[in-house]
Amino acid sequence: MEPRRILLAITGGIAAYKVPELVRSLGRAGHDVSCAMTASATRFVSPLALQTLTGAPVRQDLFDPSEEGEIDHIRLADWADLVIVAPATANVLGRMCHGLADDLVSAVLLATRAPILVAPAMNVNMWSHPATRANLETLAQRGVRRVGPGAGELACGWEGEGRMAEPEEIAAEAELLLGSKTLEGETVLVTAGGTSEPIDAVRSITNRSSGKMGFALAEEAACRGARVILVAGVTALATPAGVERQDVSSALEMREAVLGRLEDASIVIKAAAVADFRPEVREESKIKKESLESASGITLRLVTNPDILAEVCARKGDRLVVGFAAESENVVPAARRKIERKGCDLMVANDISRSDAGFGVDTNAVYLLTPDGEVEELPLSSKRVVAAHVLDRVEKLRSERRG
Ligand code: CTP
Repeated sequence: MEPRRILLAITGGIAAYKVPELVRSLGRAGHDVSCAMTASATRFVSPLALQTLTGAPVRQDLFDPSEEGEIDHIRLADWADLVIVAPATANVLGRMCHGLADDLVSAVLLATRAPILVAPAMNVNMWSHPATRANLETLAQRGVRRVGPGAGELACGWEGEGRMAEPEEIAAEAELLLGSKTLEGETVLVTAGGTSEPIDAVRSITNRSSGKMGFALAEEAACRGARVILVAGVTALATPAGVERQDVSSALEMREAVLGRLEDASIVIKAAAVADFRPEVREESKIKKESLESASGITLRLVTNPDILAEVCARKGDRLVVGFAAESENVVPAARRKIERKGCDLMVANDISRSDAGFGVDTNAVYLLTPDGEVEELPLSSKRVVAAHVLDRVEKLRSERRG
């Protein structure tokens, strides 16, 4: 990775004591780091320590003639290839959200055209407050990226979410953001999450898919500069920055959404856990026990859902299509049969019987299969890292195809 210019904006939270470690991680990667601090941040970490580590003056005051004379805040905002706000307090998130600019840090955040990465850190109640949630949602829609926070024991004595992400995690996220825009010009259609097949007005058949793998793919593709359309089934996840989302519920709705957006897509990734069967009849009202013919139970007749992936493959043209295979035994042979049957260009197979991979968890261990019989095994990694590998393979297939 080429050395880049990173402006580290530090706001006033106890996690600021970890910032020198972040400066060192970014410096080790060869980046040129400068710091800007709010007045309250200087109470938690010394400007002199940061100046020593970065070898650059630390900016603090919007109205100091000598500081502004050296390099004014607009030039500072223009200088940065990336701005990291760490720790990002609830206060700075609110100020960013409302476009306030009455101190150096908020003025730079408003003036910069560089991508912004925030690493929030605060008390758990501040974090879960509707005002903070709304501010984060607005910032995400504007393309501000977020890393963390994690959960655990907080400096204020409370337990829960609000701990700033570790410096290495923030540095890794910064690398992703600074990465080259290798999917610029592509439109990636991703499906994620489970589907919900209605039985009656209140009941449905669904599965344990969390949507995390598909969302990680959508996020990674957006980071690489693609336009991303995310067709999301049942999931509780927030929309990644810069991603266009369409929510669906049943397999039939997902099919309609996918086929409706197919024309726009140059790459299709089907990570959703689509229910194979749906109740033949959906009762309009709630099924009441006294209406049943037998008191001992009920028989549901299930009919097969259309295979969306196979349909996409049948009309794929020159699109690249990636499927997923969820297998509980004989993972590779089963996935090989699936790639032949469905006709996709790449199959990502995972063993859903493992507790550390597949449904619900943050990690995955997968095999990547191509129709020519090639199999690549990826070690257990975070879903974001798996997403990066999958997209690396997609890019490789794309360049092979282009010759
Ligand atoms: N898929 C789909 N439509 C379906 C079922 C599956 O598009 N009705 C897609 C999934 O999104 C995934 C791939 O097909 O990309 C494989 O899904 P999986 O559940 O592993 O396989 P199935 O085709 O359902 O086969 P089986 O249940 O026999 O393993």
